[in-house]
Amino acid sequence: MGADLSQLKRAVYLLKQSKCTVCFTGAGISVESGVPSFRGEDGLWEKYNPDLFEIDYFYKHPEKSWALINKIFFEILKDKKPNKAHYALAKLEELGYIKAIITQNIDNLHYLSGSKNIIEYHGNSRTLVCKKCGKKFNASDFDLSSVPMCPHCNIPLKPDFVFFGEMIPKEAQEKSEELMRQCELVIIIGTSGLVYPAAFLPMLAHKSGAKIIEINKTFSEYTDKIVDVFLEGSASEILEEILVELDTH
Ligand code: APR
Repeated sequence: MGADLSQLKRAVYLLKQSKCTVCFTGAGISVESGVPSFRGEDGLWEKYNPDLFEIDYFYKHPEKSWALINKIFFEILKDKKPNKAHYALAKLEELGYIKAIITQNIDNLHYLSGSKNIIEYHGNSRTLVCKKCGKKFNASDFDLSSVPMCPHCNIPLKPDFVFFGEMIPKEAQEKSEELMRQCELVIIIGTSGLVYPAAFLPMLAHKSGAKIIEINKTFSEYTDKIVDVFLEGSASEILEEILVELDTH
């Protein structure tokens, strides 16, 4: 069962009218690729304590932290592929309907599905970084079953994604806020809207006068506050329906 047809038609109308549309994605868009979300049934934070992903804990206990990071991020992500939702967004960008994707996800799936203008607000899991010399390295060049060390500084490398308690990369934050101020339409896909400062971005767009479409299986923090069109269902199913509706109308 797809989205409500009248809501789908409203969403497609807004998408066609908008001269600047930005997508804001969360873990929900990758669930159909087999990547667990963080909250809700099977959520990672139902199984692991998020406090272990505080930046202070990482530097105090790099071995323990790396063992867990490798297990629940790198091991899980290494064989995951984009799903129809990621490819639909790449297609919508190619057709000129969306200008950029701001993603909270570190799974690289937007990158792998061919989207071009991606802002990885929480960083990514492709690279590791040395916090002392600032050098970046490909995660795939290391055996992550032991703590990867900087070859120059001989201190533990950190995954290049944002830990709790860490700042958002400056460029990602500035570009995201500028896009959210300028855009006419935001499509929020698969996020609970619970984690700040990322969660603030759609609010900023709404305050700046943008229309908001949300695709989610359940209500989120946004649904009854800022959303103009709520499309209930799975991201891949609904985005495919949007592509069909665009093609035929
Ligand atoms: N299609 C659409 N939405 C879905 C699907 C699906 N197939 N499956 C799940 N969802 C929705 C859930 O209903 C939920 O609202 O995706 C959302 C996932 O929420 P979270 O697990 O909280 O993920 P997210 O919002 O991305 O978390 C934000 O929290 O832990 C931090 O840094 C981490 O980036 C993450 C941030």
